[in-house]
Amino acid sequence: MKENDFIPKALDNSIEKGSFTWSSPSNIALVKYWGKKENQIPANPSISFTLDACKTTTTISLSKNIADTPFSFDIFLDGVQKDDFKPKIETFFKRIERYLPFLKTYHFSIETSNTFPHSSGIASSASGMSALSLCLMSVEKALNPGITDAYFNQKASFLARLGSGSACRSIEGDLIVWGAHKKITGSSDLFGIKYPFEVHSNFSNYRDTILLVDKGEKQVSSTVGHNLMHGHPFAQQRFNQAHDNMDDLISIFKSGDLNAFIKIIESEALTLHAMMMSSMPYFILMKPNTLQIINEIWNFRTETGLHIGFTLDAGANVHVLYPEYEADQIDTFIKEKLAQYCQNNHFITDKIGFGAKAL
Ligand code: DP6
Repeated sequence: MKENDFIPKALDNSIEKGSFTWSSPSNIALVKYWGKKENQIPANPSISFTLDACKTTTTISLSKNIADTPFSFDIFLDGVQKDDFKPKIETFFKRIERYLPFLKTYHFSIETSNTFPHSSGIASSASGMSALSLCLMSVEKALNPGITDAYFNQKASFLARLGSGSACRSIEGDLIVWGAHKKITGSSDLFGIKYPFEVHSNFSNYRDTILLVDKGEKQVSSTVGHNLMHGHPFAQQRFNQAHDNMDDLISIFKSGDLNAFIKIIESEALTLHAMMMSSMPYFILMKPNTLQIINEIWNFRTETGLHIGFTLDAGANVHVLYPEYEADQIDTFIKEKLAQYCQNNHFITDKIGFGAKAL
């Protein structure tokens, strides 16, 4: 699929009203997307686990646009009108209008809510932008019922990417690749695809417990962060490393070698932060408790031989990843040893999930 394949031929804007609801999950990258080119093209391929419990539910209700304004919409979070979200949505609509020519024909009322607290420091852009893109694809399908499910999902991912890069990995599950990689058949910079190769049962129902170390606003927006990779002295080496790590993961997923898996994901997390620490301007997004947790995880792993590992996003929270068959012991360790490092002892228990659902 190329970009132009996502421009619909002819849609009859015959529908007067309608309402569509989707719930779409968050995702956690194992190989990180950090650095992008124009039009939300990633500088390197990434791969993520789709999550299950952390999700956004969005309903759009449409009626004919009778206003003069080019894009007409209102947005509500948990029932409260959020005009401060409007510029982001407006930018998104401008980017995707070419692919959804009906956008100006309708007024949209967008109602959204997240399962995770707004102030948890968990970014809602992946689940939020993917849920909105799916709702818009439901409008396209209502106007053109002939489109296939495969096209629907691929275009939803393509649109979500234009809202927020990582959002394109939230449409389906359970393992999603975004960004062209020479060994991964069908991989594309334009949308996420399901990981196409064999995955060992060690990864079934893999756990992700998210330790909320810092629930504050992000210190550096991801857009600013990605831009810091332009002219970064280590950028090219980092992009090459991401390709190599994707390569290595192919055999790791097949064999189920969890020790090798942990090495890759922890190195990815620390490299992401190392990139931020070595950019200009430079940032430290980890907090003292992030490091405490990492050390506790390493000590516990050495003592027990259990397959507990971590990854980080562009913030201080820690995602603790482990196989289902060790979950009892590791959950106890999290409760007894790691929870104390979280704000108000707050953590979220999640696991690998299978993608968005129409409601
Ligand atoms: C560190 O997808 O939030 O979570 O495309 O600018 O919206 P934009 O960035 P975003 O970046 C996510 C970065 C990351 C790594 C990842 O999810 O791969």
